Amino acid sequence: MKKSVLITGGAGFIGSHVVRLFVNKYPDYRIINLDCLTYAGNLENLSDIEDKPNYVFSKVDINDTQRLEQVFNDYQITDVIHLAAESHVDRSISDPLSFVKTNVMGTVNLLNAAKNFWKDLPNHLFYHVSTDEVYGSLDHGGYFTEHTPYDPQSPYSASKAASDHFVRAYANTYGLRMVISNCSNNYGPNQFPEKLIPLCIHNIKEGKALPVYGKGENVRDWLYVEDHARAIDLVFHKGKKGETYNIGGFNEWKNIDIVKLICQIMDRKMGKEDGESAKLITFVKDRAGHDLRYAIDAAKINSELAWSPVQTFESGIEKTVNWYLENEAWLSGVTSGDYLKYYQQHYG
Ligand code: NAD
Ligand code: TYD
Repeated sequence: MKKSVLITGGAGFIGSHVVRLFVNKYPDYRIINLDCLTYAGNLENLSDIEDKPNYVFSKVDINDTQRLEQVFNDYQITDVIHLAAESHVDRSISDPLSFVKTNVMGTVNLLNAAKNFWKDLPNHLFYHVSTDEVYGSLDHGGYFTEHTPYDPQSPYSASKAASDHFVRAYANTYGLRMVISNCSNNYGPNQFPEKLIPLCIHNIKEGKALPVYGKGENVRDWLYVEDHARAIDLVFHKGKKGETYNIGGFNEWKNIDIVKLICQIMDRKMGKEDGESAKLITFVKDRAGHDLRYAIDAAKINSELAWSPVQTFESGIEKTVNWYLENEAWLSGVTSGDYLKYYQQHYG
């Protein structure tokens, strides 16, 4: 094996796309998907590649020091791509401590395991996958660059900012070879329907209300998840060690406009009258401390690594809606909780 790459959080939304890309594109790498399968982890996301000879799944919590050491030893890990995290801002508002446990303490625990195992391995890489939310909230002008000072505003973004700082501190203090990328909002197949886009698709299918926080004026930059996975592949192989890369979709939307767009697409696909789904839009109490706007300047990854998104928002959102409509079983499994049985049935 050329490399033995530990990908954490590989059963989640973005992680599953990264695992699939690496397993298929690099048959001479061993890919170890390490995930403790929280509510957000779903091994069905990877049912198409689970029998590949270069793929291994390991059900481990990143806070479990002994099990982590064992995985590094058993598989002689050469590199880490770290995505495991608690990822939903609303959950971080109701339960901040679980974000500290996983995103901060879990990351430090993983850093320790990597540092100890890699004492004599000069060519290792610790790649931390992070978010643009660490930079805080923008007004209507300007963009986040790699030099924007950190100013996290939610418990989620504070925990991700802390984990970014720890990764840099391990590079400075212990010589860890690392790279970090900070990406904007992702959308696409396999996203848990608690996030805005899959939530709207699911609720329209079920005829349920579409909760829009505040006036729906908040702006997010959206990137198709496979474009993010391609960027991670590039940063992993070609990114300069010790550096940060911002990844974004050049694609800003107000929440209310996205919700209306999804309503239009769903009307068309479900054979409803124009305007039918939009009747479900319901303005609700705003999220506490709701960041107004995120927008990424992705010039560095564009010029240094020649990355730019392949999907336009029009094609990406169409593909996403189609995927959710065609994968009824995935969606009903996730909403009923049946997906939690997949591990027992296939690995238990
Ligand atoms: P997700 O919530 O869909 O998946 C997270 C995965 O991590 C799940 O499979 C879960 O089981 C696993 N996990 C959680 N706690 C764990 C623990 N203690 N030990 C082992 N595994 C654990 O998240 P996502 O949306 O795919 O995000 C992946 C990463 O990318 C996160 O680090 C997130 O901060 C970052 N990110 C996400 C977005 C986005 O729009 N979703 C944007 C930028 C960056
Ligand atoms: P979300 O998908 O939770 O991602 P993030 O908070 O990381 O940006 O939310 C995207 C935007 O949509 C955010 O501004 C909050 C808003 N939102 C709603 O208006 N209603 C909802 O039900 C959800 C989940 C989010």
